[in-house]
Amino acid sequence: QTMKVFVTRRIPQEGMKILQKAAGMCNLSVWDSDEPVPRAELLNGVAGAHGLLCLLSDKIDTEVLDAAGPNLKVISTLSVGFDHLAIDEIKKRGIRVGYTPDVLTDATAELTVALLLATARRLPEGVEEVKNGGWSTWKPLWLCGYGLSGSTVGVIGLGRIGLAIARRLKPFGVKRLLYTGRQPKPQAQEVEGEYVPLDTLLSESDFVVVSCSLTPETQSLCDQTFFSKMKKTAIFINSSRGAVVNQEDLFKALGSGQIAAAGLDVTTPEPLPTDHPLLTLNNCVVLPHIGSATYTTRGVMAELSANNLLAGLRDSEMPSELKL
Ligand code: GLV
Ligand code: GLV
Repeated sequence: QTMKVFVTRRIPQEGMKILQKAAGMCNLSVWDSDEPVPRAELLNGVAGAHGLLCLLSDKIDTEVLDAAGPNLKVISTLSVGFDHLAIDEIKKRGIRVGYTPDVLTDATAELTVALLLATARRLPEGVEEVKNGGWSTWKPLWLCGYGLSGSTVGVIGLGRIGLAIARRLKPFGVKRLLYTGRQPKPQAQEVEGEYVPLDTLLSESDFVVVSCSLTPETQSLCDQTFFSKMKKTAIFINSSRGAVVNQEDLFKALGSGQIAAAGLDVTTPEPLPTDHPLLTLNNCVVLPHIGSATYTTRGVMAELSANNLLAGLRDSEMPSELKL
């Protein structure tokens, strides 16, 4: 008996090849576009499906699960984040979930470091000035920013990616590495990380880097109170999920000089509308959620998500199963 599989987007070749090879087992249906599947097409596409391969931009809620019906036994997401999945409901229905941790850790950590440096050293402003004729001469205080050497970095959420970021930042001459989270982590030793209360991290860090997952606990964690505890010279970086931040409060903190600058690879919503207030600020660098966007990483993610899906359909061990 062939099983129905719905794939919500055109995914990299590496993943498609694996799925196509399993054609004997799967009746594959792909939303063959670079654009997100419209909601109605998603509901239609999952009907009767045994397997669903989705992206972080697809909200998999009760309505989608109902539309899929009782055949659905595996959801494989092409992401490490799973806040777009209604986990409680999925668990209740006995559906297994595959995701793509580890394979994107290095790429995401690299991007976060790039974003931090670009924000702290004002690269987008500099590039713009070169193009628009604002570069009149070498000036002692023009486009000055902040450096990592001798600084204190605070990482919120020293998980796989947080640790990889810390590991990369340390060689820039970071003096102290602080972190917060649910509990101290033995692996923090490697970066001489100090487990501190959030208030301490905020008041002592020159760079605050958010690298936690989005949960009810971290939703809107970065709000007015949070920013008010940071140094006026501090830089805020977020490459996790937009909803960890209250963007109105961030806008005010950046506009009033409560903090120096922010670099965001994630926003709410995504895409951020081009007339969004944050985009009017020189001290806010916004990237379009490209943390894992290297050719190699996206290929490996596609491969892993395809293998997770097939393993789920076969009732065998997945390379990366989310423990529900
Ligand atoms: C990216 O944000 C991911 O969750 O993979
Ligand atoms: C900068 O280019 C310097 O020479 O100080």
